[in-house]
Amino acid sequence: MKKFLVIKKKINSFNKTIKIDGDKSLSIRWVLISSLSKRKSIAHNLLKSEDVISSINCIKKLGSKVKFFKDKCEITGNGFDIKNKDKIYLDAGNSGTLARLILGLLINSKNQIILKGDKSLSKRDFSRIIQPLKRFGAKFGFKKKLPLTMKGLENPKPIKYVEKKGSAQCKTSVMLAALKTNGSTIIKAKKSRDHTELLFKNLKVPMKIKKSGKYDLIELKGIDKVSPLNYRIPGDISSSAFFIVLTILSNNSQLLIRNVNINPSRTGVITILKKMGANIKFINKKIYKGEKIADIYVKSTKKLKSINCPPKLNSSAIDEFLIIFLVAAKSEGISFFKNLEELNQKESPRLIWASKILSSMGVKNIMTKDSLKIYGNPNLNLKSKITVKNFLKDHRVFMMSVIAGLTFGGKWSIYDTDSIKTSFPRFLKIIRELRT
Ligand code: S3P
Repeated sequence: MKKFLVIKKKINSFNKTIKIDGDKSLSIRWVLISSLSKRKSIAHNLLKSEDVISSINCIKKLGSKVKFFKDKCEITGNGFDIKNKDKIYLDAGNSGTLARLILGLLINSKNQIILKGDKSLSKRDFSRIIQPLKRFGAKFGFKKKLPLTMKGLENPKPIKYVEKKGSAQCKTSVMLAALKTNGSTIIKAKKSRDHTELLFKNLKVPMKIKKSGKYDLIELKGIDKVSPLNYRIPGDISSSAFFIVLTILSNNSQLLIRNVNINPSRTGVITILKKMGANIKFINKKIYKGEKIADIYVKSTKKLKSINCPPKLNSSAIDEFLIIFLVAAKSEGISFFKNLEELNQKESPRLIWASKILSSMGVKNIMTKDSLKIYGNPNLNLKSKITVKNFLKDHRVFMMSVIAGLTFGGKWSIYDTDSIKTSFPRFLKIIRELRT
C-alpha cells in the first residue's frame, strides 16, 4: 500500500448500496469470550482487521485453537486455564480495546503477563484499568503504560467498582475479571456501549442490570465455565459513519448501507447528524441476539444546521466526533462540543488533530482541553494544498481526512494509509466503488 494518498478531486454524485465490514467491538469481544469456552464457537462476518488479528494472536498464545474458513472463523478455547509458561508475552498492536480487555480476562493468570503495543498504544493511559484490576488482587509492575507486566491470582476477589468515564473498555475488562471470581461483582458504570452485557446475557451469565439516568448498575456473579458463542457479526456503525457523512456532504447522492449494528449505545452519531438536519433513515429493522440491526439509508443534505451538542450523547458517539466535526464545518452557524476530554485519550489526541485539520482547511475553530467550537461555513470550498501526517496509526484521522478531501475540494496528501488496516481494511476499496 502506498505510504500516502493524494486526493485532488471531489467525489461525483453516487447512488449505491454497500456492505460494511463486521463491527470491531463485537469482533474483539467474540474472540476473547470464545477463548474462555472449551467447546467450538463459530463467527460469521468477523472483522479481519489488524486489531482483531492481534486479538486472535493473543488467544493463540494462551492456548486457543483458531481456524479460518472463507466465510467463518472457529475458535476452540481452553476454558479458564491459561497455558502454563513462566512468562506470557502478548502484543496488542494498536488496539486499546484488546489491551484493556485482555488484562481483565487474564485476572487468574499466575504467570507473568508482559503486554506491549505499538507506538500509539504505548502512549495511552492504563492506570484506568490497573486500578480496578489491582482490587481483584492482580499485581502490576511500576509502570502505568505499555509495555506493562501483570500477575494475576488463582482466586480473584469480587469488587465494587464505579466507572466514571463512560468507558466500555474499563467496564468490560472488569466484567471479564468478575467472571473468574467466586462471588458477586457490583459495577456502577456511566453509560457506554453495552455489547458485553448483551453477549453475557446470551451466555446466561448470572447478571442483573438496573438502568437509571446516567449510570447502569450491573451485578455479576462468577462462573466456572463458559458456553460456546456462535455469532453473526453485523456491520460496524463507526465505519459506516464515514460513508454516511460522505453522502451527506456530497451533491445529489444517496446510499444504502446494509445490515449495520444500530445498538442505541452506538447511535449517538445518527442522533447528532439528524439534529443537524441530515436525512437518515433506519429500514428493515430487526433484533439479533439482543443487538438492533438495520439498513441505513442516507441522502445528501443541502442545508445543515449547527449544533450545541448535548454531552449526554458523547459516549454513544465517541468514535464518530472527527467525522461529525466535518459536518459542523459545513453547517450554518457555530457548533459547540464539550466534555470531550476522552477524545484526547484515543489512538492519537483526536481533539487536537481535529482542530489542526479544520484550521488547515481554513475553518475557524476554538479548542480548549475538552471542547471545540466550530464556525461553520455552508459555502466552504477548498483550493489549497493540505497535508495530514499523523503517524500514530490513527485510522479515524486518516479516514476523516479522506472524506474532507472528497467533499470540500483542495489538494490533499494524507499520510498513514496503512492505519485503515487496524479497523476498516476495505475503506478505500469502497470509496473506489462509489467513485465508479
Ligand atoms: C470500545 C470502547 C470505546 C471506543 C473504542 C472501542 C469498546 O473506548 O472508543 O473504539 O469496544 O469497548 P472507551 O471505552 O475507552 O471509551
